[in-house]
Amino acid sequence: VTAAGAAADPELDRRYMAAALRLGRRELGLTSPNPAVGALVVDTRGEGPRIIGRGATRPPGGPHAERLALAQAGEAARGATLYVSLEPCSHYGRTPPCVDAILAAGVRRVVTPFEDPNPLVCGQGHAALRDGGVEVVTGILAEEARRAHAGHLRAIAEALPHVVLKLAVSRDGRIGGPGRTPRAISGEESLALAHMLRVEADAILIGIGTALADDPQLTARLPGLEKRSPIRVVLDRSLRLPLDGCLARTAAATPLWVMTGENAPADRRGPLEAAGAAVLDVPLSPEGLDLEAVLRLLCARGARYVLVEGGARVAASLVRSGLATQIVLVHAPVEIGAGGVDALEGLPLGAIDRAFPYALVEERRMGRDRVRVYWRK
Ligand SMILES: NC(=O)c1ccc[n+]([C@@H]2O[C@H](COP(=O)([O-])OP(=O)(O)OC[C@H]3O[C@@H](n4cnc5c(N)ncnc54)[C@H](OP(=O)(O)O)[C@@H]3O)[C@@H](O)[C@H]2O)c1
Repeated sequence: VTAAGAAADPELDRRYMAAALRLGRRELGLTSPNPAVGALVVDTRGEGPRIIGRGATRPPGGPHAERLALAQAGEAARGATLYVSLEPCSHYGRTPPCVDAILAAGVRRVVTPFEDPNPLVCGQGHAALRDGGVEVVTGILAEEARRAHAGHLRAIAEALPHVVLKLAVSRDGRIGGPGRTPRAISGEESLALAHMLRVEADAILIGIGTALADDPQLTARLPGLEKRSPIRVVLDRSLRLPLDGCLARTAAATPLWVMTGENAPADRRGPLEAAGAAVLDVPLSPEGLDLEAVLRLLCARGARYVLVEGGARVAASLVRSGLATQIVLVHAPVEIGAGGVDALEGLPLGAIDRAFPYALVEERRMGRDRVRVYWRK
């Protein structure tokens, strides 16, 4: 097999693009407002394909994935193929253009999933590479990459973040006990998944009902990943969040943003701010705070991925508005019974499958639970 023949193998291109996407995904929650990109330099000459450089975008201001992968490959990058999970940048931002580094390294071929719709890139990266004599192949694993970069793409298209609604639901469609008391619903395996979703998110959002009922910490508690807790956001029109609750008590260590609206009691602001919380005003809507305005504010402040963890009223508002891009339901084999909190307060859970624009894209067993993942069509 010639070098060119090996490199043009579409199966090989998909395999390495999948690996680049996985590398990038590990950085979710660290790179916003920049996309979490992964890059691989692959030598397709000689004995067969061999990875000679790996990189993933560092937090803002740090090097991009391509530069790290090329640096690791060194001289061997000359004539090799670069797989990168997003079109390389061609403009000066906080770091110099990646295209310059790729051309300087002498890479022969660059494979990407699609053009970066960021107006500063938008095909110019691919064009500059082609002008420099590099073969550019694009469209590889485009659908997977669209999901991997959901936050980046939505921020550019709609000035909104990627919004994941996650709920743990009992067999009888409930998420809480009678009197809105908390219930352990997820099994151990799906609980680990829930913490992983927190690690990947930039912000985690709940309603004041959940804060009062569960007194949650909303931190990522996976071994080694404790420092990757996202910003905690509470929708709280009347500033009822207790100062002696877990969220307010930990506000100095892990950011806490309390969203409120006009008419919030003025005397509640000061103490929350003194505890380390940011109190932010958003417009009101018939359901409480205007969810779209909340999400736009989070996006404007750099969040690209927001995880919503309930409760029932916030979940219902989110599903009704169609603002969630992804819904993760953990169905657990537990029974809550009469008086429990219906998962989508006033909306049947089946609404997600039927009346709303969500499609089931993944279903898997995790321990004793079944996890269903929906994406907005
Ligand atoms: N199993 C799970 O996955 C899970 C996850 C979370 C919670 N839970 C359970 O769910 C129950 C709590 O649910 P909940 O429905 O009482 O509370 P919630 O949805 O967490 O909070 C609802 C409150 O948030 C405020 N809010 C502000 N803007 C809103 C908007 N646009 N839409 C909806 N609410 C808005 C409203 O209070 P203000 O008007 O005062 O602002 C509203 O009453 C508890 O039993 C808890 O254990 C279960």
